[in-house]
Amino acid sequence: MYRSHTCGDLTIENVHQQVTLSGWVQKIRDKGFMIWVDLRDRYGLTQLIFDEERTPKEMMEKAANLGREFVIQVKGKVIERESKNPNLPTGDIEILVEELKILNQAKVPPFTIEDEPDGGEDLRMKYRYLDIRRNPVKNKLMFRHQVGMKVRNYLSQQGFIEVETPYLIKSTPEGARDFVVPSRMNQGQFYALPQSPQTFKQLLMVGGMDKYFQIVKCFRDEDLRADRQPEFTQIDCEMAFVDQEDILNIFEGLTRHLLQEVKGVEVNEFPRMTYAEAMRRYGNDKPDIRFGMEFGELNQVAQNKGFKVFDEQELVVGIAVPGAAGYTRKQLDHLINWVKRPQIGATGLVWVKCQEDGSYKSSVDKFFNSEDLASWAEVTGARAGDLILVMAGDTHATRTQLSALRMHLAQELGLRKPEEFAPLWVVDFPLLEWDEETGRYHAMHHPFTSPKPEDIPLLEKDPASVRANAYDLVLNGNEIGGGSIRIHDRNTQENMFELLGFTPEETKKQFGFLMEAFQYGAPPHGGIAFGFDRLVAILGGQESIRDYIAFPKNNSGRDVMIDAPAPLDQDQLSELNLKLDLKE
Ligand code: AMO
Repeated sequence: MYRSHTCGDLTIENVHQQVTLSGWVQKIRDKGFMIWVDLRDRYGLTQLIFDEERTPKEMMEKAANLGREFVIQVKGKVIERESKNPNLPTGDIEILVEELKILNQAKVPPFTIEDEPDGGEDLRMKYRYLDIRRNPVKNKLMFRHQVGMKVRNYLSQQGFIEVETPYLIKSTPEGARDFVVPSRMNQGQFYALPQSPQTFKQLLMVGGMDKYFQIVKCFRDEDLRADRQPEFTQIDCEMAFVDQEDILNIFEGLTRHLLQEVKGVEVNEFPRMTYAEAMRRYGNDKPDIRFGMEFGELNQVAQNKGFKVFDEQELVVGIAVPGAAGYTRKQLDHLINWVKRPQIGATGLVWVKCQEDGSYKSSVDKFFNSEDLASWAEVTGARAGDLILVMAGDTHATRTQLSALRMHLAQELGLRKPEEFAPLWVVDFPLLEWDEETGRYHAMHHPFTSPKPEDIPLLEKDPASVRANAYDLVLNGNEIGGGSIRIHDRNTQENMFELLGFTPEETKKQFGFLMEAFQYGAPPHGGIAFGFDRLVAILGGQESIRDYIAFPKNNSGRDVMIDAPAPLDQDQLSELNLKLDLKE
Protein backbone atom coordinates (compact mmCIF):
# COMPACT_ATOMS: atom_id res chain seq x y z
CA MET A 1 0.00 0.00 0.00
CA TYR A 2 1.53 3.28 -1.09
CA ARG A 3 -0.64 5.44 1.12
CA SER A 4 -3.26 5.26 3.83
CA HIS A 5 -4.19 8.94 3.46
CA THR A 6 -3.55 11.79 1.04
CA CYS A 7 -1.48 14.86 1.87
CA GLY A 8 -4.67 16.86 2.31
CA ASP A 9 -6.46 14.52 4.73
CA LEU A 10 -4.96 14.64 8.16
CA THR A 11 -6.17 16.90 10.97
CA ILE A 12 -6.01 17.07 14.76
CA GLU A 13 -8.57 14.23 14.79
CA ASN A 14 -5.90 11.86 13.45
CA VAL A 15 -3.30 12.52 16.18
CA HIS A 16 -1.59 9.31 17.42
CA GLN A 17 -2.54 7.38 14.26
CA GLN A 18 0.02 5.46 12.23
CA VAL A 19 -0.19 6.60 8.62
CA THR A 20 1.49 6.08 5.25
CA LEU A 21 1.81 8.98 2.82
CA SER A 22 3.29 9.27 -0.66
CA GLY A 23 4.01 12.40 -2.63
CA TRP A 24 6.53 14.95 -3.86
CA VAL A 25 9.00 16.91 -1.76
CA GLN A 26 7.87 20.52 -1.95
CA LYS A 27 10.31 22.07 0.48
CA ILE A 28 13.02 21.02 2.94
CA ARG A 29 14.05 23.02 6.01
CA ASP A 30 17.17 21.57 7.59
CA LYS A 31 18.21 22.92 11.00
CA GLY A 32 20.68 20.06 11.53
CA PHE A 33 19.04 18.66 14.64
CA MET A 34 15.61 18.92 13.09
CA ILE A 35 14.47 18.56 9.45
CA TRP A 36 11.04 19.51 8.16
CA VAL A 37 9.83 18.39 4.76
CA ASP A 38 6.64 19.57 3.10
CA LEU A 39 5.13 16.64 1.26
CA ARG A 40 2.77 17.48 -1.59
CA ASP A 41 0.22 15.64 -3.67
CA ARG A 42 -2.90 16.67 -5.60
CA TYR A 43 -4.82 17.04 -2.36
CA GLY A 44 -2.54 19.27 -0.32
CA LEU A 45 0.57 19.55 1.80
CA THR A 46 1.53 17.70 4.94
CA GLN A 47 4.53 18.54 7.07
CA LEU A 48 6.95 15.73 7.91
CA ILE A 49 9.35 15.98 10.80
CA PHE A 50 12.62 14.21 11.43
CA ASP A 51 14.42 15.04 14.68
CA GLU A 52 17.72 13.97 16.16
CA GLU A 53 16.19 12.76 19.39
CA ARG A 54 13.52 10.57 17.92
CA THR A 55 14.77 9.72 14.41
CA PRO A 56 17.56 7.16 13.77
CA LYS A 57 20.77 8.74 12.48
CA GLU A 58 20.70 7.05 9.04
CA MET A 59 17.22 8.32 8.40
CA MET A 60 18.27 11.82 9.43
CA GLU A 61 20.99 11.61 6.81
CA LYS A 62 18.64 10.26 4.19
CA ALA A 63 16.21 13.07 4.90
CA ALA A 64 18.97 15.66 4.70
CA ASN A 65 19.79 14.40 1.21
CA LEU A 66 16.29 14.66 -0.20
CA GLY A 67 15.87 17.09 -3.07
CA ARG A 68 12.95 19.11 -4.33
CA GLU A 69 10.41 17.03 -6.26
CA PHE A 70 11.80 13.68 -5.08
CA VAL A 71 8.96 11.16 -4.91
CA ILE A 72 8.91 9.57 -1.47
CA GLN A 73 6.86 7.34 0.76
CA VAL A 74 6.82 7.76 4.53
CA LYS A 75 5.33 5.85 7.41
CA GLY A 76 4.97 7.52 10.75
CA LYS A 77 2.82 8.84 13.52
CA VAL A 78 0.53 11.86 13.37
CA ILE A 79 1.51 14.33 16.11
CA GLU A 80 0.23 17.74 17.10
CA ARG A 81 2.39 20.59 15.86
CA GLU A 82 4.04 22.98 18.23
CA SER A 83 3.59 25.96 15.93
CA LYS A 84 0.40 25.55 13.99
CA ASN A 85 -0.29 26.91 10.50
CA PRO A 86 -3.88 28.17 10.36
CA ASN A 87 -3.64 28.68 6.58
CA LEU A 88 -3.25 25.00 5.87
CA PRO A 89 -6.02 22.38 6.35
CA THR A 90 -3.34 20.01 7.73
CA GLY A 91 -1.66 22.85 9.63
CA ASP A 92 -2.39 21.49 13.11
CA ILE A 93 -0.42 18.30 12.69
CA GLU A 94 2.83 16.86 11.38
CA ILE A 95 4.11 13.34 10.77
CA LEU A 96 6.94 12.06 12.91
CA VAL A 97 8.58 9.87 10.29
CA GLU A 98 9.52 6.30 11.18
CA GLU A 99 10.23 4.95 7.69
CA LEU A 100 11.36 6.88 4.63
CA LYS A 101 11.51 5.35 1.16
CA ILE A 102 12.68 7.22 -1.91
CA LEU A 103 10.41 6.06 -4.72
CA ASN A 104 12.14 8.18 -7.33
CA GLN A 105 14.69 10.93 -7.45
CA ALA A 106 14.17 14.16 -9.37
CA LYS A 107 16.41 16.60 -11.19
CA VAL A 108 16.13 20.16 -9.94
CA PRO A 109 13.05 21.46 -11.77
CA PRO A 110 13.64 24.24 -14.33
CA PHE A 111 11.24 26.53 -12.42
CA THR A 112 9.86 26.54 -8.91
CA ILE A 113 6.70 24.53 -8.35
CA GLU A 114 4.92 27.32 -6.54
CA ASP A 115 1.84 29.47 -7.04
CA GLU A 116 4.03 32.23 -8.49
CA PRO A 117 6.59 30.34 -10.59
CA ASP A 118 9.91 31.87 -11.56
CA GLY A 119 9.73 30.49 -15.12
CA GLY A 120 8.20 32.20 -18.13
CA GLU A 121 5.35 30.83 -20.26
CA ASP A 122 7.64 29.03 -22.73
CA LEU A 123 9.47 27.17 -20.03
CA ARG A 124 6.24 26.28 -18.27
CA MET A 125 4.81 24.89 -21.51
CA LYS A 126 7.94 22.86 -22.28
CA TYR A 127 7.66 21.22 -18.86
CA ARG A 128 3.90 21.33 -18.66
CA TYR A 129 3.79 18.19 -16.48
CA LEU A 130 5.67 20.17 -13.83
CA ASP A 131 3.44 23.19 -14.36
CA ILE A 132 0.41 20.98 -13.71
CA ARG A 133 1.84 20.24 -10.24
CA ARG A 134 1.36 23.93 -9.37
CA ASN A 135 -1.85 24.82 -7.57
CA PRO A 136 -3.16 27.43 -10.03
CA VAL A 137 -2.96 25.06 -13.00
CA LYS A 138 -4.01 21.96 -11.08
CA ASN A 139 -7.02 23.80 -9.64
CA LYS A 140 -8.09 25.00 -13.08
CA LEU A 141 -8.03 21.45 -14.45
CA MET A 142 -10.03 20.22 -11.48
CA PHE A 143 -12.48 23.07 -11.95
CA ARG A 144 -12.87 22.08 -15.60
CA HIS A 145 -13.69 18.55 -14.54
CA GLN A 146 -16.33 19.83 -12.11
CA VAL A 147 -18.00 21.96 -14.76
CA GLY A 148 -17.89 19.06 -17.24
CA MET A 149 -19.58 16.75 -14.72
CA LYS A 150 -22.31 19.28 -14.04
CA VAL A 151 -22.95 19.72 -17.75
CA ARG A 152 -23.15 15.97 -18.33
CA ASN A 153 -25.46 15.40 -15.38
CA TYR A 154 -27.74 18.28 -16.22
CA LEU A 155 -28.13 17.37 -19.87
CA SER A 156 -28.56 13.65 -19.13
CA GLN A 157 -31.28 14.52 -16.65
CA GLN A 158 -33.00 16.56 -19.32
CA GLY A 159 -33.04 13.49 -21.56
CA PHE A 160 -30.06 14.27 -23.76
CA ILE A 161 -27.95 11.35 -25.02
CA GLU A 162 -24.21 11.73 -25.48
CA VAL A 163 -23.23 10.30 -28.86
CA GLU A 164 -19.70 10.28 -30.23
CA THR A 165 -19.19 11.35 -33.81
CA PRO A 166 -16.12 10.61 -35.95
CA TYR A 167 -12.94 12.67 -36.08
CA LEU A 168 -11.81 11.44 -39.49
CA ILE A 169 -14.34 13.11 -41.72
CA LYS A 170 -14.80 15.48 -44.63
CA SER A 171 -14.61 19.26 -44.48
CA THR A 172 -17.26 20.99 -42.30
CA PRO A 173 -17.80 24.59 -43.24
CA GLU A 174 -17.42 26.56 -40.00
CA GLY A 175 -15.34 29.29 -41.55
CA ALA A 176 -11.81 28.26 -40.61
CA ARG A 177 -9.32 26.10 -42.47
CA ASP A 178 -9.32 22.35 -41.97
CA PHE A 179 -6.59 20.24 -40.48
CA VAL A 180 -6.20 17.30 -42.85
CA VAL A 181 -5.02 13.72 -42.41
CA PRO A 182 -3.71 11.71 -45.37
CA SER A 183 -5.19 8.26 -45.90
CA ARG A 184 -2.76 5.35 -46.45
CA MET A 185 -5.44 2.99 -47.68
CA ASN A 186 -6.84 5.53 -50.11
CA GLN A 187 -3.76 7.12 -51.53
CA GLY A 188 -3.98 10.71 -52.62
CA GLN A 189 -7.06 11.18 -50.42
CA PHE A 190 -7.41 13.03 -47.17
CA TYR A 191 -9.69 13.15 -44.20
CA ALA A 192 -10.44 16.48 -42.59
CA LEU A 193 -10.68 16.78 -38.83
CA PRO A 194 -14.05 18.22 -37.80
CA GLN A 195 -14.28 21.97 -37.18
CA SER A 196 -17.43 20.89 -35.35
CA PRO A 197 -19.74 17.85 -35.47
CA GLN A 198 -22.33 20.02 -37.25
CA THR A 199 -23.37 17.72 -40.10
CA PHE A 200 -23.24 14.59 -37.94
CA LYS A 201 -25.47 16.04 -35.27
CA GLN A 202 -27.98 16.97 -37.97
CA LEU A 203 -27.80 13.40 -39.28
CA LEU A 204 -28.45 12.17 -35.73
CA MET A 205 -31.66 14.20 -35.80
CA VAL A 206 -32.63 12.49 -39.05
CA GLY A 207 -31.74 9.28 -37.17
CA GLY A 208 -34.35 10.14 -34.57
CA MET A 209 -31.91 10.83 -31.71
CA ASP A 210 -34.05 13.81 -30.77
CA LYS A 211 -31.87 15.29 -27.98
CA TYR A 212 -28.12 14.91 -28.54
CA PHE A 213 -25.10 16.31 -26.81
CA GLN A 214 -21.39 15.66 -26.87
CA ILE A 215 -18.42 17.18 -25.07
CA VAL A 216 -16.18 17.01 -28.06
CA LYS A 217 -12.88 18.13 -29.53
CA CYS A 218 -13.05 20.41 -32.58
CA PHE A 219 -10.16 21.39 -34.82
CA ARG A 220 -9.72 24.70 -36.61
CA ASP A 221 -6.69 25.97 -38.41
CA GLU A 222 -7.05 29.67 -37.66
CA ASP A 223 -5.04 32.49 -36.09
CA LEU A 224 -4.70 31.96 -32.39
CA ARG A 225 -5.55 34.31 -29.55
CA ALA A 226 -5.96 34.07 -25.80
CA ASP A 227 -9.44 32.61 -26.25
CA ARG A 228 -8.69 30.42 -29.27
CA GLN A 229 -6.87 27.14 -29.62
CA PRO A 230 -6.46 25.05 -32.79
CA GLU A 231 -8.03 22.13 -30.95
CA PHE A 232 -10.67 23.08 -28.45
CA THR A 233 -13.72 21.53 -26.86
CA GLN A 234 -17.39 22.17 -27.47
CA ILE A 235 -20.49 21.19 -25.57
CA ASP A 236 -22.27 20.41 -28.79
CA CYS A 237 -26.06 20.03 -28.67
CA GLU A 238 -28.90 19.43 -31.10
CA MET A 239 -32.63 18.86 -30.72
CA ALA A 240 -35.47 17.90 -33.02
CA PHE A 241 -39.02 19.31 -32.96
CA VAL A 242 -37.99 22.60 -31.40
CA ASP A 243 -38.09 26.22 -32.36
CA GLN A 244 -35.65 28.96 -31.39
CA GLU A 245 -37.57 29.76 -28.22
CA ASP A 246 -37.26 26.15 -26.96
CA ILE A 247 -33.52 26.13 -27.54
CA LEU A 248 -32.93 29.47 -25.86
CA ASN A 249 -34.93 28.33 -22.82
CA ILE A 250 -33.21 24.97 -22.43
CA PHE A 251 -29.68 26.31 -22.77
CA GLU A 252 -30.41 29.34 -20.67
CA GLY A 253 -31.44 26.72 -18.10
CA LEU A 254 -28.10 24.95 -18.42
CA THR A 255 -26.14 28.18 -18.12
CA ARG A 256 -28.17 29.35 -15.15
CA HIS A 257 -27.67 25.96 -13.49
CA LEU A 258 -23.90 26.21 -13.96
CA LEU A 259 -23.72 29.77 -12.64
CA GLN A 260 -25.68 28.71 -9.60
CA GLU A 261 -23.89 25.44 -8.90
CA VAL A 262 -20.37 26.51 -9.73
CA LYS A 263 -20.38 30.16 -8.69
CA GLY A 264 -23.38 30.44 -6.40
CA VAL A 265 -24.65 33.24 -8.63
CA GLU A 266 -28.38 33.65 -9.28
CA VAL A 267 -29.22 35.31 -12.58
CA ASN A 268 -32.65 36.43 -13.69
CA GLU A 269 -33.94 35.80 -17.17
CA PHE A 270 -31.15 36.50 -19.65
CA PRO A 271 -31.68 39.70 -21.58
CA ARG A 272 -32.01 39.38 -25.35
CA MET A 273 -30.71 41.84 -27.86
CA THR A 274 -30.84 41.74 -31.62
CA TYR A 275 -27.58 41.79 -33.52
CA ALA A 276 -28.52 45.19 -34.94
CA GLU A 277 -29.12 46.61 -31.48
CA ALA A 278 -25.90 45.15 -30.07
CA MET A 279 -23.96 46.75 -32.90
CA ARG A 280 -25.69 50.09 -32.43
CA ARG A 281 -25.39 50.23 -28.64
CA TYR A 282 -22.00 48.57 -28.15
CA GLY A 283 -20.40 48.33 -31.62
CA ASN A 284 -19.98 44.64 -30.99
CA ASP A 285 -21.95 41.43 -31.39
CA LYS A 286 -20.70 40.14 -28.04
CA PRO A 287 -21.12 43.14 -25.76
CA ASP A 288 -19.97 43.17 -22.16
CA ILE A 289 -23.04 44.62 -20.48
CA ARG A 290 -21.65 44.64 -16.94
CA PHE A 291 -20.93 48.35 -17.30
CA GLY A 292 -22.43 51.25 -19.24
CA MET A 293 -20.43 53.37 -21.68
CA GLU A 294 -23.09 52.77 -24.32
CA PHE A 295 -22.61 54.32 -27.73
CA GLY A 296 -24.26 57.64 -28.48
CA GLU A 297 -24.68 58.41 -32.19
CA LEU A 298 -23.78 62.04 -32.72
CA ASN A 299 -24.39 62.64 -36.45
CA GLN A 300 -27.34 64.93 -35.73
CA VAL A 301 -25.55 67.10 -33.20
CA ALA A 302 -21.95 67.03 -34.41
CA GLN A 303 -22.15 67.28 -38.19
CA ASN A 304 -22.39 70.45 -40.28
CA LYS A 305 -20.73 72.64 -37.68
CA GLY A 306 -17.66 73.27 -39.80
CA PHE A 307 -15.58 70.39 -38.46
CA LYS A 308 -14.63 68.62 -41.70
CA VAL A 309 -13.34 65.47 -39.96
CA PHE A 310 -16.92 64.71 -38.93
CA ASP A 311 -18.96 66.16 -41.77
CA GLU A 312 -18.14 63.69 -44.51
CA GLN A 313 -18.46 60.59 -42.36
CA GLU A 314 -21.11 57.91 -42.30
CA LEU A 315 -21.08 57.74 -38.49
CA VAL A 316 -20.00 60.01 -35.64
CA VAL A 317 -20.23 58.11 -32.38
CA GLY A 318 -19.09 58.59 -28.80
CA ILE A 319 -18.95 57.06 -25.34
CA ALA A 320 -18.87 58.65 -21.89
CA VAL A 321 -16.05 57.32 -19.74
CA PRO A 322 -17.15 57.61 -16.11
CA GLY A 323 -15.02 59.81 -13.88
CA ALA A 324 -12.31 60.32 -16.49
CA ALA A 325 -12.62 64.11 -16.99
CA GLY A 326 -9.43 64.50 -14.98
CA TYR A 327 -7.30 62.65 -17.57
CA THR A 328 -4.06 64.50 -18.21
CA ARG A 329 -2.79 65.53 -21.61
CA LYS A 330 -0.41 62.60 -21.44
CA GLN A 331 -3.19 60.12 -20.70
CA LEU A 332 -5.27 61.50 -23.57
CA ASP A 333 -2.34 61.32 -25.97
CA HIS A 334 -1.82 57.76 -24.86
CA LEU A 335 -5.44 56.92 -25.73
CA ILE A 336 -5.13 58.63 -29.10
CA ASN A 337 -2.00 56.65 -29.88
CA TRP A 338 -3.70 53.51 -28.65
CA VAL A 339 -6.56 53.83 -31.17
CA LYS A 340 -4.15 54.75 -33.97
CA ARG A 341 -2.16 51.52 -33.60
CA PRO A 342 -2.56 49.25 -36.64
CA GLN A 343 -4.44 46.66 -34.52
CA ILE A 344 -7.22 49.23 -34.02
CA GLY A 345 -6.64 51.37 -37.09
CA ALA A 346 -8.55 54.54 -36.16
CA THR A 347 -7.51 57.85 -37.67
CA GLY A 348 -8.02 59.76 -34.45
CA LEU A 349 -10.06 60.49 -31.38
CA VAL A 350 -11.89 63.62 -30.24
CA TRP A 351 -12.23 64.20 -26.49
CA VAL A 352 -14.52 66.35 -24.37
CA LYS A 353 -14.04 66.83 -20.63
CA CYS A 354 -17.32 67.40 -18.79
CA GLN A 355 -15.89 69.37 -15.94
CA GLU A 356 -17.28 69.33 -12.41
CA ASP A 357 -18.32 73.02 -12.68
CA GLY A 358 -20.58 72.24 -15.66
CA SER A 359 -18.25 73.67 -18.29
CA TYR A 360 -16.68 71.75 -21.15
CA LYS A 361 -13.15 71.53 -22.44
CA SER A 362 -12.47 69.67 -25.64
CA SER A 363 -9.97 68.97 -28.39
CA VAL A 364 -12.41 70.65 -30.83
CA ASP A 365 -13.23 73.85 -28.91
CA LYS A 366 -12.62 75.82 -32.12
CA PHE A 367 -15.62 74.22 -33.81
CA PHE A 368 -18.09 73.51 -31.07
CA ASN A 369 -19.50 75.73 -28.32
CA SER A 370 -20.72 74.57 -24.91
CA GLU A 371 -24.26 74.24 -26.13
CA ASP A 372 -23.08 71.80 -28.83
CA LEU A 373 -20.98 69.88 -26.34
CA ALA A 374 -23.86 69.79 -23.86
CA SER A 375 -25.92 67.99 -26.49
CA TRP A 376 -23.10 65.48 -27.01
CA ALA A 377 -23.15 64.87 -23.28
CA GLU A 378 -26.88 64.32 -23.41
CA VAL A 379 -26.65 61.80 -26.24
CA THR A 380 -23.78 59.84 -24.69
CA GLY A 381 -25.24 60.08 -21.17
CA ALA A 382 -22.13 61.89 -19.87
CA ARG A 383 -22.30 63.56 -16.48
CA ALA A 384 -20.07 66.10 -14.77
CA GLY A 385 -16.70 64.44 -14.23
CA ASP A 386 -16.96 62.18 -17.29
CA LEU A 387 -14.85 62.17 -20.43
CA ILE A 388 -16.53 61.86 -23.82
CA LEU A 389 -14.52 60.12 -26.53
CA VAL A 390 -15.70 60.42 -30.12
CA MET A 391 -14.76 58.68 -33.36
CA ALA A 392 -15.99 59.11 -36.91
CA GLY A 393 -15.81 57.08 -40.12
CA ASP A 394 -17.49 54.17 -41.90
CA THR A 395 -20.18 52.73 -39.68
CA HIS A 396 -18.89 49.21 -39.21
CA ALA A 397 -15.21 50.07 -38.84
CA THR A 398 -15.86 52.97 -36.48
CA ARG A 399 -18.11 50.91 -34.26
CA THR A 400 -15.51 48.17 -34.08
CA GLN A 401 -12.77 50.66 -33.17
CA LEU A 402 -14.82 52.43 -30.51
CA SER A 403 -15.86 49.08 -29.10
CA ALA A 404 -12.21 48.08 -28.72
CA LEU A 405 -11.55 51.37 -26.92
CA ARG A 406 -14.58 50.84 -24.68
CA MET A 407 -13.33 47.42 -23.63
CA HIS A 408 -9.79 48.69 -23.13
CA LEU A 409 -10.94 51.53 -20.88
CA ALA A 410 -13.31 49.30 -18.92
CA GLN A 411 -10.41 46.96 -18.26
CA GLU A 412 -8.20 49.83 -17.14
CA LEU A 413 -10.90 51.30 -14.93
CA GLY A 414 -11.57 47.93 -13.29
CA LEU A 415 -15.13 47.75 -14.61
CA ARG A 416 -14.76 44.20 -15.92
CA LYS A 417 -15.15 42.41 -12.61
CA PRO A 418 -14.36 38.70 -12.96
CA GLU A 419 -16.80 37.67 -10.24
CA GLU A 420 -19.75 39.51 -11.76
CA PHE A 421 -21.67 37.57 -14.42
CA ALA A 422 -23.85 39.13 -17.09
CA PRO A 423 -25.13 36.65 -19.67
CA LEU A 424 -26.99 37.83 -22.76
CA TRP A 425 -28.54 36.32 -25.86
CA VAL A 426 -27.75 38.05 -29.11
CA VAL A 427 -30.40 37.04 -31.67
CA ASP A 428 -31.42 37.75 -35.26
CA PHE A 429 -27.97 37.60 -36.78
CA PRO A 430 -27.80 38.39 -40.48
CA LEU A 431 -27.92 35.20 -42.54
CA LEU A 432 -25.21 36.31 -44.94
CA GLU A 433 -22.09 38.38 -44.92
CA TRP A 434 -20.58 39.96 -48.01
CA ASP A 435 -17.00 38.95 -48.55
CA GLU A 436 -15.04 41.63 -50.42
CA GLU A 437 -12.18 39.29 -51.18
CA THR A 438 -14.13 36.59 -52.98
CA GLY A 439 -16.86 38.94 -54.17
CA ARG A 440 -19.64 36.73 -52.85
CA TYR A 441 -21.80 36.12 -49.83
CA HIS A 442 -20.87 33.62 -47.21
CA ALA A 443 -22.95 32.29 -44.36
CA MET A 444 -22.42 34.31 -41.22
CA HIS A 445 -23.03 31.29 -38.99
CA HIS A 446 -22.86 28.30 -41.32
CA PRO A 447 -24.74 27.28 -44.49
CA PHE A 448 -27.18 25.03 -42.61
CA THR A 449 -28.76 27.94 -40.77
CA SER A 450 -32.36 28.72 -41.55
CA PRO A 451 -33.41 32.19 -42.64
CA LYS A 452 -36.27 33.74 -40.66
CA PRO A 453 -39.39 32.63 -42.55
CA GLU A 454 -40.66 36.21 -42.81
CA ASP A 455 -37.39 37.29 -44.46
CA ILE A 456 -37.33 34.55 -47.10
CA PRO A 457 -38.95 36.80 -49.75
CA LEU A 458 -35.93 39.14 -49.39
CA LEU A 459 -33.46 36.41 -50.33
CA GLU A 460 -33.52 37.36 -54.01
CA LYS A 461 -33.85 41.15 -53.83
CA ASP A 462 -31.76 42.03 -50.82
CA PRO A 463 -29.87 39.03 -49.43
CA ALA A 464 -27.82 41.18 -47.04
CA SER A 465 -30.92 42.18 -45.09
CA VAL A 466 -32.15 38.62 -44.48
CA ARG A 467 -32.03 37.69 -40.82
CA ALA A 468 -31.29 34.17 -39.61
CA ASN A 469 -32.77 32.11 -36.82
CA ALA A 470 -29.32 32.23 -35.28
CA TYR A 471 -28.24 33.19 -31.78
CA ASP A 472 -25.12 33.59 -29.67
CA LEU A 473 -24.79 33.28 -25.95
CA VAL A 474 -22.55 36.02 -24.63
CA LEU A 475 -21.05 36.06 -21.14
CA ASN A 476 -19.08 39.06 -19.90
CA GLY A 477 -18.13 40.18 -23.39
CA ASN A 478 -17.20 36.71 -24.66
CA GLU A 479 -19.02 34.57 -27.17
CA ILE A 480 -19.40 31.35 -25.25
CA GLY A 481 -21.91 29.68 -27.53
CA GLY A 482 -23.63 29.92 -30.85
CA GLY A 483 -26.28 28.04 -32.75
CA SER A 484 -29.25 28.18 -35.03
CA ILE A 485 -32.42 26.59 -36.27
CA ARG A 486 -31.43 24.58 -39.31
CA ILE A 487 -32.77 24.20 -42.75
CA HIS A 488 -34.41 20.75 -42.90
CA ASP A 489 -35.72 20.51 -46.41
CA ARG A 490 -33.68 19.67 -49.38
CA ASN A 491 -34.84 22.43 -51.69
CA THR A 492 -34.15 25.27 -49.30
CA GLN A 493 -30.73 23.80 -48.51
CA GLU A 494 -29.97 23.50 -52.22
CA ASN A 495 -31.02 27.11 -52.80
CA MET A 496 -28.85 28.22 -49.92
CA PHE A 497 -25.77 26.58 -51.40
CA GLU A 498 -26.58 28.19 -54.73
CA LEU A 499 -26.85 31.60 -53.07
CA LEU A 500 -23.47 30.99 -51.45
CA GLY A 501 -21.96 30.46 -54.89
CA PHE A 502 -21.72 26.66 -54.92
CA THR A 503 -22.39 24.95 -58.25
CA PRO A 504 -24.85 22.02 -58.07
CA GLU A 505 -21.87 19.69 -58.63
CA GLU A 506 -19.92 21.18 -55.74
CA THR A 507 -22.96 20.93 -53.49
CA LYS A 508 -23.47 17.32 -54.42
CA LYS A 509 -19.82 16.45 -53.93
CA GLN A 510 -19.45 18.11 -50.54
CA PHE A 511 -22.87 17.76 -49.01
CA GLY A 512 -24.66 15.16 -51.11
CA PHE A 513 -24.96 12.91 -48.04
CA LEU A 514 -26.84 15.57 -46.09
CA MET A 515 -29.11 16.52 -48.97
CA GLU A 516 -29.90 12.88 -49.46
CA ALA A 517 -30.68 12.41 -45.77
CA PHE A 518 -33.07 15.34 -45.94
CA GLN A 519 -35.16 13.31 -48.40
CA TYR A 520 -35.83 10.60 -45.84
CA GLY A 521 -37.94 12.45 -43.33
CA ALA A 522 -35.69 15.06 -41.67
CA PRO A 523 -37.48 16.55 -38.66
CA PRO A 524 -37.35 20.28 -37.94
CA HIS A 525 -34.29 20.76 -35.74
CA GLY A 526 -31.82 23.19 -34.27
CA GLY A 527 -29.06 23.41 -31.74
CA ILE A 528 -26.17 25.21 -30.20
CA ALA A 529 -22.54 24.64 -29.28
CA PHE A 530 -20.81 26.14 -26.28
CA GLY A 531 -17.09 26.77 -26.29
CA PHE A 532 -16.34 24.61 -23.26
CA ASP A 533 -12.83 25.98 -22.68
CA ARG A 534 -14.15 29.54 -22.81
CA LEU A 535 -17.09 28.78 -20.58
CA VAL A 536 -14.85 27.20 -17.96
CA ALA A 537 -12.29 30.01 -18.14
CA ILE A 538 -14.92 32.72 -17.71
CA LEU A 539 -16.59 30.90 -14.85
CA GLY A 540 -13.10 30.72 -13.38
CA GLY A 541 -12.79 34.49 -13.74
CA GLN A 542 -10.32 34.55 -16.66
CA GLU A 543 -10.42 35.16 -20.39
CA SER A 544 -7.38 33.14 -21.41
CA ILE A 545 -8.32 29.51 -21.97
CA ARG A 546 -4.78 28.17 -21.99
CA ASP A 547 -4.45 27.17 -18.36
CA TYR A 548 -7.80 25.43 -18.45
CA ILE A 549 -6.39 23.04 -21.05
CA ALA A 550 -3.93 20.43 -19.79
CA PHE A 551 -1.65 20.50 -22.82
CA PRO A 552 -2.35 23.62 -24.90
CA LYS A 553 -0.60 24.84 -28.04
CA ASN A 554 1.35 28.07 -28.14
CA ASN A 555 0.54 31.05 -30.36
CA SER A 556 2.21 29.45 -33.36
CA GLY A 557 0.08 26.35 -32.91
CA ARG A 558 3.01 24.34 -31.55
CA ASP A 559 3.13 21.92 -28.69
CA VAL A 560 6.61 22.82 -27.42
CA MET A 561 6.69 19.89 -25.00
CA ILE A 562 6.38 17.09 -27.55
CA ASP A 563 7.70 19.36 -30.32
CA ALA A 564 4.77 19.07 -32.71
CA PRO A 565 4.11 19.55 -35.54
CA ALA A 566 7.17 17.78 -36.90
CA PRO A 567 8.33 16.50 -40.29
CA LEU A 568 7.48 12.92 -41.24
CA ASP A 569 10.29 10.54 -42.02
CA GLN A 570 10.75 9.36 -45.57
CA ASP A 571 9.26 5.91 -44.93
CA GLN A 572 6.05 7.35 -43.64
CA LEU A 573 5.86 9.80 -46.54
CA SER A 574 6.41 7.00 -49.06
CA GLU A 575 3.79 4.81 -47.41
CA LEU A 576 1.32 7.66 -47.82
CA ASN A 577 2.60 8.36 -51.30
CA LEU A 578 3.21 11.99 -50.33
CA LYS A 579 5.92 13.99 -52.01
CA LEU A 580 6.92 17.23 -50.41
CA ASP A 581 8.17 20.05 -52.52
CA LEU A 582 9.28 22.53 -49.89
CA LYS A 583 10.86 25.64 -51.36
CA GLU A 584 13.23 27.50 -49.07
P1 AMO B 1 -19.29 28.19 -33.53
O1 AMO B 1 -18.35 28.20 -34.67
O2 AMO B 1 -19.92 29.47 -33.13
O3 AMO B 1 -20.52 27.21 -33.82
O4 AMO B 1 -18.57 27.55 -32.28
C1 AMO B 1 -19.23 27.39 -31.04
C2 AMO B 1 -18.40 27.96 -29.91
O5 AMO B 1 -17.11 27.37 -29.85
C3 AMO B 1 -16.17 28.28 -29.32
N1 AMO B 1 -15.00 28.36 -30.23
C4 AMO B 1 -13.71 28.24 -29.83
N2 AMO B 1 -13.16 28.10 -28.63
C5 AMO B 1 -11.82 28.00 -28.55
N3 AMO B 1 -10.99 28.04 -29.61
C6 AMO B 1 -11.50 28.18 -30.86
N4 AMO B 1 -10.66 28.20 -31.91
C7 AMO B 1 -12.92 28.31 -31.01
N5 AMO B 1 -13.75 28.47 -32.07
C8 AMO B 1 -15.00 28.50 -31.57
C9 AMO B 1 -16.87 29.61 -29.18
C10 AMO B 1 -18.09 29.44 -30.06
O6 AMO B 1 -19.17 30.21 -29.60
N6 AMO B 1 -21.56 24.04 -35.28
C11 AMO B 1 -21.76 25.36 -34.72
C12 AMO B 1 -22.72 25.33 -33.56
C13 AMO B 1 -24.16 25.16 -33.94
O7 AMO B 1 -24.63 25.78 -34.92
O8 AMO B 1 -24.87 24.41 -33.22
C14 AMO B 1 -20.43 25.92 -34.27
O9 AMO B 1 -19.42 25.26 -34.20
O10 AMO B 1 -17.24 29.78 -27.82
